[in-house]
Amino acid sequence: MNFTYEVIPVENMEDCRDLCNELMSFQKSKAYIAPERFDSMNFDTRMVPSVKKALHNYIVIVKDGDKTAGYVYSNVSPKETYSNEFATFFDLSSVSGSNVGCLSQFYIKEEYRKYGIGSVLFDMSMKWLHQFQDVDDYFIFVSNGNENALEFYKRKGFSVSHDILDGFITVLRSGRKVLISEKR
Ligand SMILES: CC(C)(COP(=O)(O)OP(=O)(O)OC[C@H]1O[C@@H](n2cnc3c(N)ncnc32)[C@H](O)[C@@H]1OP(=O)(O)O)[C@@H](O)C(=O)NCCC(=O)NCCS
Repeated sequence: MNFTYEVIPVENMEDCRDLCNELMSFQKSKAYIAPERFDSMNFDTRMVPSVKKALHNYIVIVKDGDKTAGYVYSNVSPKETYSNEFATFFDLSSVSGSNVGCLSQFYIKEEYRKYGIGSVLFDMSMKWLHQFQDVDDYFIFVSNGNENALEFYKRKGFSVSHDILDGFITVLRSGRKVLISEKR
């Protein structure tokens, strides 16, 4: 296998459509709390609005030759983006700055997992987030039943903060200082 990592402009986000839709199906298959919530979640209802609301977007697609293996999507958004009619994702007053970073969507096709691709994409995303000096708080939202992802992020330095929507989503959090000190 010969993996290449391509940072794509938001104009080409359509290239993520199938992967994003697969991610939603995967999360539904894992969920034991309200899996039906995923029925209305897809590329058009999740990724397109996120990209539009964000101040900065970062999308990386991984390919094995000409085959798509996975993607990661991260963004920097005003913290108010995370308090809406769907949920309040975190206590806005716990974030001192105006904007937060989020590793928002992450999916490697099953046959390509455990080759280290996820770790490369995670590191690329954190490096990208770090360039925003005014962003001190990073979030990842994991849907219920996805223990593998939860453990993966914990090993990468994120901590469980709290659950929202009666346990439908677990909020993971890290701060700029935590990630920087780990790199030393
Ligand atoms: C979570 C996810 C992105 C991780 O990606 P990945 O490419 O499998 O991640 P990595 O290969 O870097 O690391 C996974 C594990 O494989 C191990 N690994 C890495 N290279 C390996 C190799 N060559 N041989 C064996 N194991 C290896 C890593 O040590 C790691 O082990 P650990 O989890 O015990 O630390 C991926 O599993 C995925 O897409 N899952 C489905 C969708 C999902 O859950 N998305 C997250 C939504 S919040």
